[in-house]
Amino acid sequence: MSKQKMKQLALIFFLVTILHNKPSKAQPPTVNPYAALHITPNPDGSITRIKEFFPTVPPNTTTSLAFSKDVPLNPNNKTWVRLYLPSGPPGYLNNLPVVVFAHGGGFILLSTAGPDIDLFLSSTASKLRVLVVSVEYRLAPEHRLPAAYDDVLEALYWVKDKKDEWVKNYGNVSRCIMMGESVGGNIVYNVGLRASVMTPALKPLVIRGLVLIQPFFGGADLDRGYTNPNMQVIANLLWNLSLPLGENRNNPYFNPIFGGGSSNLDKIRGLGWRVAFAGCDGDFIFDRQVKVFEFFKKRGLDVVSHFGKGYNHGVFIGNPSESQTLFEFVRNVFSPYLVS
Ligand SMILES: *[C@@H]1O[C@H](CO)[C@@H](O)[C@H](O)[C@H]1NC(C)=O
Ligand SMILES: *[C@@H]1O[C@H](CO)[C@@H](O)[C@H](O)[C@H]1NC(C)=O
Ligand SMILES: *[C@@H]1O[C@H](CO)[C@@H](O)[C@H](O)[C@H]1NC(C)=O
Ligand SMILES: *[C@@H]1O[C@H](CO)[C@@H](O)[C@H](O)[C@H]1NC(C)=O
Repeated sequence: MSKQKMKQLALIFFLVTILHNKPSKAQPPTVNPYAALHITPNPDGSITRIKEFFPTVPPNTTTSLAFSKDVPLNPNNKTWVRLYLPSGPPGYLNNLPVVVFAHGGGFILLSTAGPDIDLFLSSTASKLRVLVVSVEYRLAPEHRLPAAYDDVLEALYWVKDKKDEWVKNYGNVSRCIMMGESVGGNIVYNVGLRASVMTPALKPLVIRGLVLIQPFFGGADLDRGYTNPNMQVIANLLWNLSLPLGENRNNPYFNPIFGGGSSNLDKIRGLGWRVAFAGCDGDFIFDRQVKVFEFFKKRGLDVVSHFGKGYNHGVFIGNPSESQTLFEFVRNVFSPYLVS
């Protein structure tokens, strides 16, 4: 394994490494959250991301899995999308479902062009036989929430307008699935709430459901994973850097359950979207995912889950065999729209 690859994995699993210390509840945190996240704070409120920990790879024109390319989304905001087209025989590319994807990284880190995320998305395009549109959304704290939500919503409209040849020629935008990992799951949920009341404007794009892969939710009340004080300082910093100034962790962006939840959940129920949760019980934020899943179920949503044992946060991207498990799950959930 290359040094770069090891650094990338170390970052994705930094939370897990920290958990290995398992200090007791009463102990103060031993970790410097800035150092753990490979960032340094600047006087103007921005952060510097230590470059060597955040490698990126160019789009891929030679792979056996999928072709990719980068296309500007909103030049004013320096946002762009990376598209993935599965490779296959002639005719293979007709009528592909479109997966709009949001990556993880605590709202403040990483890129859709990171090597692990890029490989995962090539595999997604290939194994699910879909056109992937992955959004390079704006990061906090330079752009606090809802900037990331605005950008992913903008990407939905960009897909709907078929501004790109791949989308126009190979995609079927009435088979759109939104998928996100970690904070990307949070983003997809929040964009889904907004999009649920925009369905006429989004036509001919039709969303069929959401795939929330280890989505990053929470609340002011702390779950089991936060009994580790190091986890608390890191999670606090992430939310402190990303939420609108002055907000707390019961903000609806972060806590979908608080105050009875959004009334747009009824819209999502009415639209018949399937909401698929993927998680595993070794993930420090697993308990909240289960709570949100149960809450959606109570609200009458068409929710399905793949909740596995062990593992940790980031596993569906970082571990290729777990990626395969995820693809099988998604294929089953969205079988009416996915062609094999
Ligand atoms: C393209 O994909 C191949 C096979 O998946 C991989 O070996 C190669 O590193 C990729 N190239 C780039 C530029 O990402
Ligand atoms: C981001 O894009 C939106 C929509 O085009 C625009 O209203 C906003 O001003 C942009 N922000 C910046 C910082 O350019
Ligand atoms: C696109 O997908 C929708 C929904 O599955 C389907 O009804 C429609 O026939 C598809 N479009 C084409 C051109 O096949
Ligand atoms: C971040 O933390 C500071 C200090 O505790 C607090 O004043 C501020 O409101 C917090 N901001 C957010 C967005 O949570």
